[in-house]
Amino acid sequence: MFRMLIVLLALAWLPAAAERGPVLVFGATGQLGAEVVRELVAAGYPVTAFVRPGSDRSRLEGLDIQYVTGDMLRADQVARALAARRYEAVIEASARGGAPDSFYPDVMRHVVAAAQAHGSPRIILHGSVGAGQNIEKFPQAPFGRMTTTLAAKGEAEALLIDSGLPYVIIRNGILMRDGTPATGHAYLSSNHALMRSVTRADLARLTVMCLRDRGCDGRIWHAVDDRLPFPDRYR
Ligand SMILES: NC(=O)c1ccc[n+]([C@@H]2O[C@H](COP(=O)([O-])OP(=O)(O)OC[C@H]3O[C@@H](n4cnc5c(N)ncnc54)[C@H](OP(=O)(O)O)[C@@H]3O)[C@@H](O)[C@H]2O)c1
Repeated sequence: MFRMLIVLLALAWLPAAAERGPVLVFGATGQLGAEVVRELVAAGYPVTAFVRPGSDRSRLEGLDIQYVTGDMLRADQVARALAARRYEAVIEASARGGAPDSFYPDVMRHVVAAAQAHGSPRIILHGSVGAGQNIEKFPQAPFGRMTTTLAAKGEAEALLIDSGLPYVIIRNGILMRDGTPATGHAYLSSNHALMRSVTRADLARLTVMCLRDRGCDGRIWHAVDDRLPFPDRYR
């Protein structure tokens, strides 16, 4: 009886342990990235944060994680990060800051090449509603100067989709202010004509959900939360 209990416990533990391979997070010091790191740590994943030498790590303070330093705009530095550990998944949550829009396809090219060379981990990309051709679904939306950024984000998506790597793309529409608590009501929709608001904390929760669920793979998802305010001009 006791031996059977041990076997059952081992069986219950094995898949759970197998699910929690190391995860590399790009943009880990940012508003979304730090939420993702926190959620991963809480779920038991070993996390490596890719940070620039001068990145402010304060959002990650107190978290038991590893760091690798580099610049995503440097292909060799991204490759070195991927070579350092056998990652189960890579999460791309960076934002260009003051860099040109070409940042998005440029860094995706580096991430894809490095992932192809080092174990083909799953790539979870945080993208934007309206990226690439998706902008045509929202003729009413006043994207303004975001239009060129969305085109660049579309290029990044296409690079990932065409890479042959296992991927998940989670697009966000309107992000609530940093620090807005998770509502617990956000969900992933396959309706690409849907744009709503979402919190970064909920996006982090949905990221970990997809990490556990291979049913997310090979798809573009729109993260939406029907209960949050959403500007009329985007409807
Ligand atoms: N729809 C909306 O309302 C909305 C609003 C804002 C953002 N977004 C999107 O949401 C996603 C996350 O944005 P966020 O505002 O949470 O990001 P964020 O706080 O601006 O953080 C950006 C992250 O990217 C990192 N990064 C930038 N350039 C890098 C480089 N060359 N090498 C390595 N790391 C680099 C930054 O590192 P450092 O700490 O070193 O700077 C930081 O960790 C992005 O896709 C963004 O476009 C959407």
